[in-house]
Amino acid sequence: MVAADRSAVAGIISRVGNFNQAEIDCALELVGVYLNDPHQKDYHLLVAEKPDGAVGAYACWGPTPLTTGTYDLYWIATDPCLQGQGLGQALVGEIERRVRAAGGRLILVETSSKDSYAATIDFYRRLGYREEARIRDFYDVGDDRLVFAKRLAGQGAGE
Ligand SMILES: CC(C)(COP(=O)(O)OP(=O)(O)OC[C@H]1O[C@@H](n2cnc3c(N)ncnc32)[C@H](O)[C@@H]1OP(=O)(O)O)[C@@H](O)C(=O)NCCC(=O)NCCS
Repeated sequence: MVAADRSAVAGIISRVGNFNQAEIDCALELVGVYLNDPHQKDYHLLVAEKPDGAVGAYACWGPTPLTTGTYDLYWIATDPCLQGQGLGQALVGEIERRVRAAGGRLILVETSSKDSYAATIDFYRRLGYREEARIRDFYDVGDDRLVFAKRLAGQGAGE
């Protein structure tokens, strides 16, 4: 991701529909951290482009603080009109490649148990992420926090 992608990514974040205002603000804040501080190492951002060069999806991940080899996939979103065309899968595949190259062994992603995240949960499962933990009523009463995990083969505790 480069500075010129900022408005396209902001548009995707606000259009996906799953994110509330606080989540949108948080996702945009991390975009700002990434673009404004070239020395920070906590957040990495990638965009996926359509053949015409337009930004169609983005993802944000980084090393989980106080761990060795564990990474968090913080945000991923594909423009609603481009979903189901492989952009999200391409981003996750590239993130896994980069995490492996950095010696990472475990990727975590958390999501909500709300019905509106059912497709997102399907997406993670198809990519080999397994439900590792559930904290009931975490986000709100009746809205659990689900933690999905993927152990990278050949890296430490790999499967
Ligand atoms: C989750 C999300 C990032 C997936 O991105 P995407 O670009 O649509 O995903 P892909 O096209 O790469 O799909 C990869 C696989 O998941 C499947 N998939 C994608 N969307 C799906 C859906 N709505 N329902 C069922 N399966 C779905 C695809 O069919 C594909 O499977 P296949 O390889 O067996 O055909 C996207 O749907 C999205 O932006 N959702 C809203 C935001 C969100 O919830 N983000 C995650 C929380 S941070």
